[in-house]
Amino acid sequence: MTRPDYAEKIPNNVGLAEDRRLQRALESWQPNFLSWWETMGPTLPTQNVYLRTAIDVRGEGWAQFGHVPMIDYRWGIFLADKNPDRRVAFGQHKGDPAWQKVPGEYRAELQRLIVIQGDTEPASVEQQRNLGATAPSLYDLRNLFQVNVEEGRHLWAMVYLLHAYFGREGREEAEELLHRNSGSQDSPRILGAFNEETPDWLSFYMFTYFTDRDGKYQLGTLKESAFDPLSRTCEFMLKEEAHHMMVGTTGVDRVVERTAQVMVENDTDDVAALGVIPLQVIQKYLNFHYSVSLDLFGGETSTNVANYYTAGLKGRWLEERRKDDHKLTDDAIMVDALVDASDGEQSISQVEVSALVGLNTDLRREYIADCSGGVKRWNRILEDAGLPQRLYLPHIAFNRKVGAFAGIEASPSGQKMTAREWEHAKGQWLPTDTDKTFVRSLMHPVYERGKIAAWVAPPRNGINGQPFDYDYVHLA
Ligand SMILES: [Fe+2]
Ligand SMILES: [Fe+2]
Repeated sequence: MTRPDYAEKIPNNVGLAEDRRLQRALESWQPNFLSWWETMGPTLPTQNVYLRTAIDVRGEGWAQFGHVPMIDYRWGIFLADKNPDRRVAFGQHKGDPAWQKVPGEYRAELQRLIVIQGDTEPASVEQQRNLGATAPSLYDLRNLFQVNVEEGRHLWAMVYLLHAYFGREGREEAEELLHRNSGSQDSPRILGAFNEETPDWLSFYMFTYFTDRDGKYQLGTLKESAFDPLSRTCEFMLKEEAHHMMVGTTGVDRVVERTAQVMVENDTDDVAALGVIPLQVIQKYLNFHYSVSLDLFGGETSTNVANYYTAGLKGRWLEERRKDDHKLTDDAIMVDALVDASDGEQSISQVEVSALVGLNTDLRREYIADCSGGVKRWNRILEDAGLPQRLYLPHIAFNRKVGAFAGIEASPSGQKMTAREWEHAKGQWLPTDTDKTFVRSLMHPVYERGKIAAWVAPPRNGINGQPFDYDYVHLA
Protein backbone atom coordinates (compact mmCIF):
# COMPACT_ATOMS: atom_id res chain seq x y z
CA MET A 1 0.00 0.00 0.00
CA THR A 2 1.43 3.37 -1.00
CA ARG A 3 1.70 6.11 1.59
CA PRO A 4 -0.01 9.37 0.67
CA ASP A 5 2.19 11.35 -1.68
CA TYR A 6 2.75 14.83 -0.28
CA ALA A 7 4.90 16.00 -3.15
CA GLU A 8 1.75 16.28 -5.19
CA LYS A 9 -0.87 18.96 -5.43
CA ILE A 10 -3.50 16.51 -4.25
CA PRO A 11 -2.35 14.31 -1.36
CA ASN A 12 -3.44 10.76 -2.07
CA ASN A 13 -2.76 7.11 -1.60
CA VAL A 14 -4.31 6.06 -4.90
CA GLY A 15 -1.22 6.43 -7.10
CA LEU A 16 -2.50 9.57 -8.79
CA ALA A 17 0.96 10.32 -10.23
CA GLU A 18 0.72 7.20 -12.39
CA ASP A 19 -2.55 8.29 -13.97
CA ARG A 20 -1.91 11.59 -15.72
CA ARG A 21 -5.39 11.84 -17.21
CA LEU A 22 -7.10 11.45 -13.86
CA GLN A 23 -4.60 13.74 -12.19
CA ARG A 24 -5.27 16.47 -14.76
CA ALA A 25 -9.03 16.05 -14.38
CA LEU A 26 -8.82 16.42 -10.60
CA GLU A 27 -6.37 19.31 -10.86
CA SER A 28 -8.83 21.14 -13.06
CA TRP A 29 -11.66 20.46 -10.58
CA GLN A 30 -9.52 21.66 -7.62
CA PRO A 31 -9.75 25.44 -8.35
CA ASN A 32 -13.54 25.11 -8.65
CA PHE A 33 -13.59 23.38 -5.30
CA LEU A 34 -11.47 26.14 -3.74
CA SER A 35 -13.67 28.88 -5.14
CA TRP A 36 -16.72 26.99 -3.82
CA TRP A 37 -15.00 26.85 -0.38
CA GLU A 38 -14.33 30.58 -0.50
CA THR A 39 -17.85 31.55 -1.52
CA MET A 40 -19.92 28.87 0.27
CA GLY A 41 -17.62 27.75 3.11
CA PRO A 42 -17.08 29.27 6.58
CA THR A 43 -17.67 33.03 6.63
CA LEU A 44 -15.66 33.93 9.75
CA PRO A 45 -12.21 35.23 8.73
CA THR A 46 -9.40 33.28 10.38
CA GLN A 47 -5.60 33.19 10.11
CA ASN A 48 -5.28 29.55 10.99
CA VAL A 49 -6.98 26.71 12.84
CA TYR A 50 -5.64 23.75 14.83
CA LEU A 51 -6.78 21.04 12.45
CA ARG A 52 -6.42 17.33 12.00
CA THR A 53 -5.22 16.36 8.53
CA ALA A 54 -5.36 12.80 7.24
CA ILE A 55 -1.91 11.65 6.18
CA ASP A 56 -2.30 7.89 6.27
CA VAL A 57 -5.12 5.42 6.62
CA ARG A 58 -3.74 3.11 9.25
CA GLY A 59 -3.20 2.90 13.00
CA GLU A 60 -2.67 5.78 15.36
CA GLY A 61 -0.59 7.81 12.95
CA TRP A 62 -3.30 8.37 10.36
CA ALA A 63 -3.67 12.06 11.17
CA GLN A 64 -1.42 14.96 12.03
CA PHE A 65 -2.44 18.06 14.01
CA GLY A 66 -1.25 21.61 13.52
CA HIS A 67 -2.30 25.20 12.90
CA VAL A 68 -3.10 25.68 9.22
CA PRO A 69 -4.86 28.38 7.19
CA MET A 70 -8.09 26.67 6.15
CA ILE A 71 -7.71 27.49 2.47
CA ASP A 72 -4.37 25.63 2.54
CA TYR A 73 -5.91 22.54 4.14
CA ARG A 74 -4.64 19.44 2.35
CA TRP A 75 -7.84 17.90 1.08
CA GLY A 76 -6.75 14.56 -0.19
CA ILE A 77 -7.90 11.20 -1.47
CA PHE A 78 -7.48 8.28 0.88
CA LEU A 79 -8.82 4.79 0.55
CA ALA A 80 -8.55 2.16 3.25
CA ASP A 81 -6.06 -0.61 2.50
CA LYS A 82 -6.97 -3.03 -0.23
CA ASN A 83 -7.69 -6.60 0.73
CA PRO A 84 -6.78 -8.54 -2.44
CA ASP A 85 -8.90 -11.50 -1.26
CA ARG A 86 -12.03 -9.48 -0.56
CA ARG A 87 -15.21 -11.11 -1.81
CA VAL A 88 -18.75 -9.88 -2.29
CA ALA A 89 -20.52 -10.54 1.02
CA PHE A 90 -24.18 -10.53 -0.09
CA GLY A 91 -26.68 -10.61 -2.92
CA GLN A 92 -26.62 -12.59 -6.13
CA HIS A 93 -22.84 -12.15 -6.60
CA LYS A 94 -22.04 -13.33 -3.08
CA GLY A 95 -18.68 -15.11 -3.03
CA ASP A 96 -17.36 -13.50 -6.23
CA PRO A 97 -14.18 -11.44 -6.03
CA ALA A 98 -14.98 -7.79 -5.17
CA TRP A 99 -15.17 -5.56 -8.26
CA GLN A 100 -12.25 -3.28 -9.06
CA LYS A 101 -14.14 -1.76 -11.99
CA VAL A 102 -17.74 -0.67 -12.44
CA PRO A 103 -19.79 -3.38 -14.15
CA GLY A 104 -21.61 -1.88 -17.15
CA GLU A 105 -25.02 -3.09 -16.01
CA TYR A 106 -24.74 -1.27 -12.65
CA ARG A 107 -23.04 1.89 -13.85
CA ALA A 108 -26.06 4.21 -13.60
CA GLU A 109 -27.10 2.96 -10.15
CA LEU A 110 -23.61 3.16 -8.67
CA GLN A 111 -23.13 6.65 -10.05
CA ARG A 112 -26.44 7.71 -8.52
CA LEU A 113 -25.54 6.31 -5.09
CA ILE A 114 -22.19 8.13 -5.16
CA VAL A 115 -23.77 11.41 -6.26
CA ILE A 116 -26.39 11.27 -3.49
CA GLN A 117 -23.75 10.59 -0.86
CA GLY A 118 -21.44 13.23 -2.37
CA ASP A 119 -24.19 15.85 -2.37
CA THR A 120 -24.64 15.71 1.41
CA GLU A 121 -20.98 16.46 2.18
CA PRO A 122 -20.68 20.04 0.83
CA ALA A 123 -24.32 20.67 1.79
CA SER A 124 -23.52 20.52 5.49
CA VAL A 125 -20.62 22.96 5.04
CA GLU A 126 -23.07 25.36 3.42
CA GLN A 127 -25.63 24.87 6.17
CA GLN A 128 -23.05 25.64 8.86
CA ARG A 129 -21.21 28.48 7.17
CA ASN A 130 -22.32 31.29 9.48
CA LEU A 131 -21.92 29.49 12.80
CA GLY A 132 -18.39 30.78 13.36
CA ALA A 133 -19.85 34.22 14.09
CA THR A 134 -21.49 32.90 17.27
CA ALA A 135 -19.11 30.18 18.49
CA PRO A 136 -19.38 29.57 22.25
CA SER A 137 -15.61 28.98 22.57
CA LEU A 138 -12.44 28.62 20.50
CA TYR A 139 -12.61 24.89 21.18
CA ASP A 140 -16.09 24.70 19.60
CA LEU A 141 -15.04 26.95 16.75
CA ARG A 142 -12.16 24.63 15.97
CA ASN A 143 -14.45 21.60 16.03
CA LEU A 144 -16.87 23.29 13.64
CA PHE A 145 -14.05 23.99 11.19
CA GLN A 146 -12.69 20.44 11.59
CA VAL A 147 -16.07 19.03 10.66
CA ASN A 148 -16.27 21.47 7.72
CA VAL A 149 -12.86 20.66 6.21
CA GLU A 150 -13.52 16.94 6.57
CA GLU A 151 -16.92 17.21 4.88
CA GLY A 152 -14.97 18.98 2.14
CA ARG A 153 -12.61 16.00 2.02
CA HIS A 154 -15.57 13.65 1.81
CA LEU A 155 -16.68 15.57 -1.25
CA TRP A 156 -13.19 14.95 -2.67
CA ALA A 157 -13.59 11.26 -1.88
CA MET A 158 -16.79 11.01 -3.95
CA VAL A 159 -15.46 13.24 -6.74
CA TYR A 160 -12.43 10.98 -7.02
CA LEU A 161 -14.71 8.01 -7.66
CA LEU A 162 -16.76 9.96 -10.21
CA HIS A 163 -13.64 11.11 -12.08
CA ALA A 164 -11.79 7.81 -11.88
CA TYR A 165 -14.61 5.40 -12.76
CA PHE A 166 -17.49 7.21 -14.48
CA GLY A 167 -15.95 9.07 -17.43
CA ARG A 168 -17.45 12.23 -18.83
CA GLU A 169 -20.75 11.79 -17.01
CA GLY A 170 -18.86 11.42 -13.75
CA ARG A 171 -16.97 14.66 -14.41
CA GLU A 172 -20.22 16.47 -15.12
CA GLU A 173 -21.72 15.17 -11.90
CA ALA A 174 -18.63 16.38 -10.02
CA GLU A 175 -19.27 19.90 -11.35
CA GLU A 176 -22.92 19.68 -10.34
CA LEU A 177 -21.90 18.85 -6.78
CA LEU A 178 -20.45 22.35 -6.58
CA HIS A 179 -23.36 24.03 -8.37
CA ARG A 180 -26.20 22.74 -6.22
CA ASN A 181 -26.41 24.64 -2.94
CA SER A 182 -28.18 24.06 0.34
CA GLY A 183 -31.51 25.89 0.46
CA SER A 184 -31.16 27.23 -3.11
CA GLN A 185 -34.45 27.90 -4.92
CA ASP A 186 -33.12 26.95 -8.36
CA SER A 187 -30.76 24.08 -7.56
CA PRO A 188 -31.17 22.80 -4.02
CA ARG A 189 -29.30 19.89 -2.50
CA ILE A 190 -30.86 16.50 -3.24
CA LEU A 191 -32.11 15.52 0.25
CA GLY A 192 -34.53 17.56 2.34
CA ALA A 193 -32.62 17.65 5.63
CA PHE A 194 -29.65 19.16 3.80
CA ASN A 195 -31.64 22.17 2.72
CA GLU A 196 -32.59 23.12 6.30
CA GLU A 197 -30.44 25.82 7.82
CA THR A 198 -28.24 25.27 10.86
CA PRO A 199 -28.80 28.69 12.43
CA ASP A 200 -27.50 28.18 15.97
CA TRP A 201 -25.18 25.95 17.96
CA LEU A 202 -27.87 23.83 19.56
CA SER A 203 -28.95 22.98 16.00
CA PHE A 204 -25.31 22.27 15.11
CA TYR A 205 -24.90 19.81 17.98
CA MET A 206 -28.22 18.15 17.14
CA PHE A 207 -27.25 18.01 13.46
CA THR A 208 -23.89 16.40 14.17
CA TYR A 209 -25.57 13.97 16.56
CA PHE A 210 -28.58 12.97 14.45
CA THR A 211 -27.84 13.87 10.83
CA ASP A 212 -24.13 13.01 10.72
CA ARG A 213 -25.19 9.73 12.31
CA ASP A 214 -27.49 9.08 9.36
CA GLY A 215 -24.32 9.60 7.28
CA LYS A 216 -22.56 6.98 9.36
CA TYR A 217 -25.25 4.42 8.54
CA GLN A 218 -25.35 5.30 4.84
CA LEU A 219 -21.55 5.02 4.65
CA GLY A 220 -21.80 1.73 6.53
CA THR A 221 -24.02 0.26 3.79
CA LEU A 222 -21.74 1.57 1.02
CA LYS A 223 -18.70 0.17 2.83
CA GLU A 224 -20.22 -3.26 2.16
CA SER A 225 -20.45 -2.55 -1.58
CA ALA A 226 -19.09 -5.09 -4.04
CA PHE A 227 -17.50 -2.12 -5.84
CA ASP A 228 -14.24 -2.18 -3.91
CA PRO A 229 -13.03 1.43 -4.41
CA LEU A 230 -16.36 2.67 -3.01
CA SER A 231 -16.09 0.28 -0.08
CA ARG A 232 -12.56 1.37 0.76
CA THR A 233 -13.39 5.08 0.41
CA CYS A 234 -16.32 4.77 2.80
CA GLU A 235 -14.32 2.75 5.29
CA PHE A 236 -11.86 5.59 5.68
CA MET A 237 -14.58 8.27 5.74
CA LEU A 238 -16.18 6.47 8.70
CA LYS A 239 -12.96 6.93 10.64
CA GLU A 240 -13.22 10.72 10.26
CA GLU A 241 -16.98 10.68 10.80
CA ALA A 242 -16.50 9.40 14.37
CA HIS A 243 -15.17 12.82 15.38
CA HIS A 244 -18.22 14.59 13.94
CA MET A 245 -20.48 12.45 16.07
CA MET A 246 -18.31 13.06 19.13
CA VAL A 247 -18.88 16.80 18.55
CA GLY A 248 -22.64 16.21 18.51
CA THR A 249 -22.80 13.80 21.44
CA THR A 250 -20.63 15.84 23.77
CA GLY A 251 -22.16 19.09 22.50
CA VAL A 252 -25.65 18.03 23.59
CA ASP A 253 -24.11 16.60 26.81
CA ARG A 254 -22.69 20.02 27.60
CA VAL A 255 -25.93 21.89 26.90
CA VAL A 256 -27.89 19.47 29.10
CA GLU A 257 -25.22 19.63 31.81
CA ARG A 258 -25.28 23.42 31.93
CA THR A 259 -29.10 23.59 31.94
CA ALA A 260 -29.28 20.98 34.71
CA GLN A 261 -26.74 22.91 36.77
CA VAL A 262 -28.73 26.14 36.55
CA MET A 263 -32.00 24.28 37.28
CA VAL A 264 -30.54 22.80 40.44
CA GLU A 265 -28.87 26.01 41.61
CA ASN A 266 -32.09 27.96 41.22
CA ASP A 267 -34.54 25.17 41.98
CA THR A 268 -36.62 25.88 38.87
CA ASP A 269 -37.07 24.52 35.36
CA ASP A 270 -37.97 27.98 34.12
CA VAL A 271 -34.38 28.81 33.22
CA ALA A 272 -34.74 30.88 30.05
CA ALA A 273 -34.43 34.14 31.95
CA LEU A 274 -31.26 32.76 33.54
CA GLY A 275 -29.55 32.56 30.17
CA VAL A 276 -29.62 28.81 29.54
CA ILE A 277 -31.78 26.65 27.28
CA PRO A 278 -34.82 25.08 29.01
CA LEU A 279 -35.04 21.29 28.78
CA GLN A 280 -38.35 21.60 26.96
CA VAL A 281 -36.64 23.58 24.18
CA ILE A 282 -33.79 21.05 24.00
CA GLN A 283 -36.46 18.35 23.60
CA LYS A 284 -38.10 20.28 20.76
CA TYR A 285 -34.80 20.60 18.89
CA LEU A 286 -34.17 16.91 19.46
CA ASN A 287 -37.66 16.10 18.10
CA PHE A 288 -37.02 18.13 14.98
CA HIS A 289 -33.56 16.84 14.12
CA TYR A 290 -34.42 13.23 14.90
CA SER A 291 -37.59 13.23 12.78
CA VAL A 292 -36.01 14.89 9.73
CA SER A 293 -33.08 12.49 10.00
CA LEU A 294 -35.46 9.49 10.04
CA ASP A 295 -36.77 10.76 6.71
CA LEU A 296 -33.29 10.44 5.21
CA PHE A 297 -33.62 6.65 5.31
CA GLY A 298 -36.44 6.78 2.74
CA GLY A 299 -39.71 4.85 2.63
CA GLU A 300 -40.31 1.75 4.79
CA THR A 301 -40.24 -0.34 1.63
CA SER A 302 -38.23 0.20 -1.51
CA THR A 303 -37.80 -1.99 -4.56
CA ASN A 304 -34.82 0.14 -5.63
CA VAL A 305 -33.01 -0.67 -2.42
CA ALA A 306 -33.95 -4.35 -2.77
CA ASN A 307 -32.37 -4.27 -6.22
CA TYR A 308 -29.24 -2.49 -4.95
CA TYR A 309 -28.84 -5.22 -2.36
CA THR A 310 -29.37 -8.11 -4.72
CA ALA A 311 -26.94 -6.54 -7.18
CA GLY A 312 -24.31 -6.11 -4.44
CA LEU A 313 -24.18 -2.30 -4.63
CA LYS A 314 -25.28 -1.51 -1.09
CA GLY A 315 -25.33 -3.92 1.86
CA ARG A 316 -26.74 -3.88 5.37
CA TRP A 317 -25.19 -2.31 8.44
CA LEU A 318 -22.48 -4.77 9.59
CA GLU A 319 -23.47 -7.19 6.83
CA GLU A 320 -20.86 -9.78 7.69
CA ARG A 321 -22.01 -10.06 11.29
CA ARG A 322 -25.55 -11.01 10.26
CA LYS A 323 -26.46 -14.61 10.80
CA ASP A 324 -28.44 -15.41 7.66
CA ASP A 325 -27.83 -16.36 4.03
CA HIS A 326 -27.00 -12.75 2.96
CA LYS A 327 -29.40 -13.11 0.05
CA LEU A 328 -32.71 -12.71 1.93
CA THR A 329 -34.80 -14.07 -0.90
CA ASP A 330 -36.98 -16.13 1.47
CA ASP A 331 -36.99 -13.81 4.50
CA ALA A 332 -39.60 -11.40 5.80
CA ILE A 333 -39.60 -8.29 8.01
CA MET A 334 -42.27 -6.30 9.81
CA VAL A 335 -42.30 -2.67 8.70
CA ASP A 336 -44.17 0.35 10.01
CA ALA A 337 -47.35 1.10 8.11
CA LEU A 338 -50.77 2.67 8.21
CA VAL A 339 -53.31 -0.12 8.39
CA ASP A 340 -57.07 0.06 7.78
CA ALA A 341 -58.86 -0.36 11.09
CA SER A 342 -62.39 -1.67 11.63
CA ASP A 343 -63.81 1.83 12.14
CA GLY A 344 -62.77 2.80 8.60
CA GLU A 345 -59.90 4.90 9.92
CA GLN A 346 -56.24 4.10 9.40
CA SER A 347 -54.09 3.27 12.37
CA ILE A 348 -50.36 3.27 13.02
CA SER A 349 -49.26 -0.33 12.89
CA GLN A 350 -46.95 -2.77 11.10
CA VAL A 351 -47.19 -5.12 8.14
CA GLU A 352 -45.02 -7.98 6.96
CA VAL A 353 -43.08 -7.56 3.73
CA SER A 354 -40.19 -9.39 2.09
CA ALA A 355 -36.90 -8.67 3.84
CA LEU A 356 -35.34 -7.33 0.65
CA VAL A 357 -38.03 -4.74 0.14
CA GLY A 358 -37.84 -3.74 3.82
CA LEU A 359 -34.11 -2.95 3.90
CA ASN A 360 -34.63 0.77 4.55
CA THR A 361 -36.54 -0.22 7.67
CA ASP A 362 -33.73 -2.52 8.76
CA LEU A 363 -31.21 0.32 8.47
CA ARG A 364 -33.48 2.87 10.14
CA ARG A 365 -33.91 0.51 13.11
CA GLU A 366 -30.15 0.16 13.53
CA TYR A 367 -29.96 3.95 13.51
CA ILE A 368 -32.78 4.37 16.04
CA ALA A 369 -31.10 1.93 18.44
CA ASP A 370 -27.90 3.95 18.15
CA CYS A 371 -29.75 7.26 18.75
CA SER A 372 -31.31 5.94 21.92
CA GLY A 373 -27.77 5.65 23.30
CA GLY A 374 -27.47 9.45 23.22
CA VAL A 375 -30.75 9.92 25.03
CA LYS A 376 -29.57 7.50 27.71
CA ARG A 377 -26.40 9.48 28.29
CA TRP A 378 -28.22 12.81 28.44
CA ASN A 379 -30.69 11.34 30.92
CA ARG A 380 -27.83 10.11 33.06
CA ILE A 381 -26.61 13.71 33.27
CA LEU A 382 -30.07 14.77 34.48
CA GLU A 383 -30.18 11.88 36.93
CA ASP A 384 -26.73 12.68 38.31
CA ALA A 385 -27.89 16.25 38.84
CA GLY A 386 -30.77 14.87 40.93
CA LEU A 387 -33.44 16.00 38.47
CA PRO A 388 -36.58 13.96 37.69
CA GLN A 389 -37.01 15.26 34.08
CA ARG A 390 -36.00 13.05 31.17
CA LEU A 391 -35.44 13.48 27.43
CA TYR A 392 -36.85 10.94 24.94
CA LEU A 393 -36.92 10.02 21.25
CA PRO A 394 -40.31 10.84 19.72
CA HIS A 395 -42.40 8.11 18.05
CA ILE A 396 -41.41 7.05 14.55
CA ALA A 397 -44.64 8.52 13.12
CA PHE A 398 -43.98 11.98 14.58
CA ASN A 399 -43.35 14.84 12.10
CA ARG A 400 -42.52 12.61 9.17
CA LYS A 401 -42.44 13.88 5.60
CA VAL A 402 -41.25 10.67 3.95
CA GLY A 403 -42.64 7.14 4.12
CA ALA A 404 -45.75 5.54 5.57
CA PHE A 405 -46.52 8.36 7.98
CA ALA A 406 -45.93 11.30 5.64
CA GLY A 407 -49.66 11.78 5.14
CA ILE A 408 -50.72 11.78 8.78
CA GLU A 409 -49.90 13.65 11.96
CA ALA A 410 -48.91 11.99 15.21
CA SER A 411 -47.89 13.15 18.65
CA PRO A 412 -44.43 12.30 20.08
CA SER A 413 -46.07 9.41 21.95
CA GLY A 414 -47.49 8.01 18.70
CA GLN A 415 -51.14 9.12 18.95
CA LYS A 416 -52.62 9.78 15.53
CA MET A 417 -54.13 13.26 15.32
CA THR A 418 -56.15 15.34 12.89
CA ALA A 419 -54.52 18.17 10.97
CA ARG A 420 -56.39 20.64 13.18
CA GLU A 421 -55.24 19.03 16.41
CA TRP A 422 -51.69 18.98 15.07
CA GLU A 423 -51.72 22.67 14.10
CA HIS A 424 -52.94 23.45 17.58
CA ALA A 425 -50.41 21.28 19.42
CA LYS A 426 -47.24 21.22 17.33
CA GLY A 427 -45.73 24.25 19.07
CA GLN A 428 -45.36 22.10 22.20
CA TRP A 429 -43.19 19.63 20.34
CA LEU A 430 -41.30 21.46 17.60
CA PRO A 431 -39.26 24.67 17.95
CA THR A 432 -41.50 27.71 17.51
CA ASP A 433 -40.30 31.05 16.18
CA THR A 434 -40.17 32.21 19.80
CA ASP A 435 -37.95 29.25 20.78
CA LYS A 436 -35.64 29.84 17.83
CA THR A 437 -35.40 33.54 18.54
CA PHE A 438 -34.65 32.77 22.17
CA VAL A 439 -31.91 30.27 21.32
CA ARG A 440 -30.42 32.71 18.83
CA SER A 441 -30.47 35.45 21.47
CA LEU A 442 -28.01 33.36 23.54
CA MET A 443 -25.59 32.96 20.65
CA HIS A 444 -22.87 35.51 21.28
CA PRO A 445 -19.34 34.67 20.22
CA VAL A 446 -16.74 33.91 22.86
CA TYR A 447 -13.31 34.08 21.23
CA GLU A 448 -11.17 34.44 24.36
CA ARG A 449 -8.90 31.54 25.20
CA GLY A 450 -10.28 29.39 28.02
CA LYS A 451 -13.64 31.21 28.15
CA ILE A 452 -17.03 29.79 27.28
CA ALA A 453 -20.59 31.02 26.72
CA ALA A 454 -22.93 30.78 29.71
CA TRP A 455 -25.45 28.38 28.07
CA VAL A 456 -23.04 25.47 27.63
CA ALA A 457 -20.63 23.63 29.93
CA PRO A 458 -16.94 23.38 28.98
CA PRO A 459 -15.77 20.05 27.49
CA ARG A 460 -14.13 17.42 29.70
CA ASN A 461 -11.20 17.10 27.32
CA GLY A 462 -9.54 19.27 24.72
CA ILE A 463 -8.41 18.14 21.27
CA ASN A 464 -5.40 15.88 20.76
CA GLY A 465 -4.37 16.15 24.40
CA GLN A 466 -4.40 19.97 24.37
CA PRO A 467 -6.15 21.77 27.23
CA PHE A 468 -9.51 23.54 26.81
CA ASP A 469 -7.74 26.94 26.98
CA TYR A 470 -5.43 26.13 24.07
CA ASP A 471 -5.26 28.65 21.18
CA TYR A 472 -7.29 26.46 18.83
CA VAL A 473 -8.09 29.25 16.39
CA HIS A 474 -6.30 32.47 15.46
CA LEU A 475 -8.85 34.90 14.11
CA ALA A 476 -7.92 37.23 11.28
FE1 LIG B 1 -19.11 13.34 5.68
FE1 LIG C 1 -19.78 14.20 8.98
